[in-house]
Order: sequence, then C-alpha cells, then structure tokens
Amino acid sequence: MDSIYGYPQYYEIAYSYRNIPAEVDVMEEAIRKYSRIPVQTVLELACGNSPHMLELAARGYDYYGLDISPTMLEFAQTKANAHDLDVHFYQASFVDFRLEEPVDFVYIMLGSLYVNNTEELLSHFAHVHRALKPGGLYFLEWCVDFAPLDSGLDSWVMRKDGITVTTRYTTRLHNAPEQLYEENILFTIKDKGRPLKLLHTGLRRAIFPQEFLLAATKLNDFEFLGWWDEWNWHRPLGEGRGEIIRPITVLRRL
Ligand SMILES: C[S@@+](CC[C@H](N)C(=O)[O-])C[C@H]1O[C@@H](n2cnc3c(N)ncnc32)[C@H](O)[C@@H]1O
Repeated sequence: MDSIYGYPQYYEIAYSYRNIPAEVDVMEEAIRKYSRIPVQTVLELACGNSPHMLELAARGYDYYGLDISPTMLEFAQTKANAHDLDVHFYQASFVDFRLEEPVDFVYIMLGSLYVNNTEELLSHFAHVHRALKPGGLYFLEWCVDFAPLDSGLDSWVMRKDGITVTTRYTTRLHNAPEQLYEENILFTIKDKGRPLKLLHTGLRRAIFPQEFLLAATKLNDFEFLGWWDEWNWHRPLGEGRGEIIRPITVLRRL
C-alpha cells in the first residue's frame, strides 16, 4: 500500500480539523511571554505540507520548513509559490541537520518527533540547539508521551471538495525495553467515487516526560518553561487525572 506521505493533498484534508489562526495566536503568545529575542525567522521541523506557513507569512514571519519527504516538501513549495511567498525548505532529517544561519523560533507539530533510540533523541536536541539563537523558543505539540502508547486508537473523518478521508490511527507495543511502538496511520479515501487506501507504518520510540526533560535540560542546554493541555495556557499539566489531548511544551535555548 502507498504511504500517506506520498499523497499530501489527502494528508492535508485528514489533518484539516485544526484551527490554524488560533494555534498561531498561541505560538505568538508563547513568544510574547517567554522569548528573550524578537522573532522574525521561524523554522518548522517535520513541516510536511506546512499547515501554518500561510498564516505565519501573513503575520510577517519568514518561514523555513524542514522535512525528510521530498513529496511533502514539493507540495508545500507549490502552496508557497501560489501565494508568491519567499520561503525556504530543507530536505533533511531533524535528527541531524544544519542551517546556514540560526533562526529565532523553532516548532514541531502533531507529535512528529520520530526517533528510533536515545542517541537520535539527544542528537535531535543538539541540532535544534545549534539551529536556534540563544534565548529563542522551541515549541512542541505532543512529542512527549504522558501515557504508554500501547493499544492506542483514534479515528476521524474529514471532507473537502467532495473528497472524504477517514483516518484510523493505532499504536501497539513493539519492544518494551527499547520503548518502541508500532504506529499505523491508515487513510481510507473516497475521491470522486475512486476508493483508495494509504498507510504509514513505522516504529516510534516513546519519549516519556522525565526523560524528555533529562534530554532537553540536563544533557542539552534548554530551559523548560512548561507544558499545557489542549493548547490552553490555563491548563498546565500536572493537575488532575483526565486524558491529555494535544499538549504543548515550551523550551528556551540557553
Ligand atoms: C504528522 S506529519 C506532520 C506534518 C505537519 N507538520 C503538520 O503539522 O501537519 C509528520 C512529518 O514528519 C516527517 N518526518 C518524519 N521523520 C522525519 C525526520 N527524521 N526528519 C524530518 N522530517 C521527518 C514526515 O515526512 C511528515 O511530513
């Protein structure tokens, strides 16, 4: 079966449930509250189809996107061209990448911090550190696993322009001591009557909160500013026992 990342047009529909302007408001509030430097350049890691790019550009930021998939990058570049935007894309892995110049703000969405082992996690933080100016923020959505990923299941349906994309997301334990989980993202698509199935399947190493802090703040030079549930500054994690949904975490580079 083909990969979901080979068809960015369907990926974009599947994840279009987000309120992008509201999310950019939260990112800007993080900058106002916590950044020690003014922000002009922003880098999205694992940018894929760059869902926040147009909104960020409309607010005057210079957008940089980095992704490992040439197909996703091509789609994002076409979108940028259609809006006459001067943006910069890098095809590279966020595990080890280099920019010509450090940026003012780095972010990563939807738990896209895919690493296979601890070495890659540490390498990731070291390279983000190098890519970010001192005092700049690293803003992450999900990426920290506050509960074991075993037997996770989520599914939803999104529609646009007569196309229906049903997404089924599952995880299951692959290797306990290595904290490796198998992740499957299955799209079932109805596009003008043509049925199509696309699958992403891969391993993801769970990153639990205390080792995230260890890797970011003790083994790399980031300061931890907090984590909050559902993109909501009024919901710092650590209070209550409810399910945690789409948490955000903010780090500052020392
Ligand atoms: C869930 S999508 C996120 C796309 C987009 N940022 C969003 O918010 O919808 C995950 C992306 O991570 C990319 N990716 C996976 N491993 C990567 C790596 N090691 N380095 C860079 N990008 C990676 C995939 O190609 C894919 O585009």
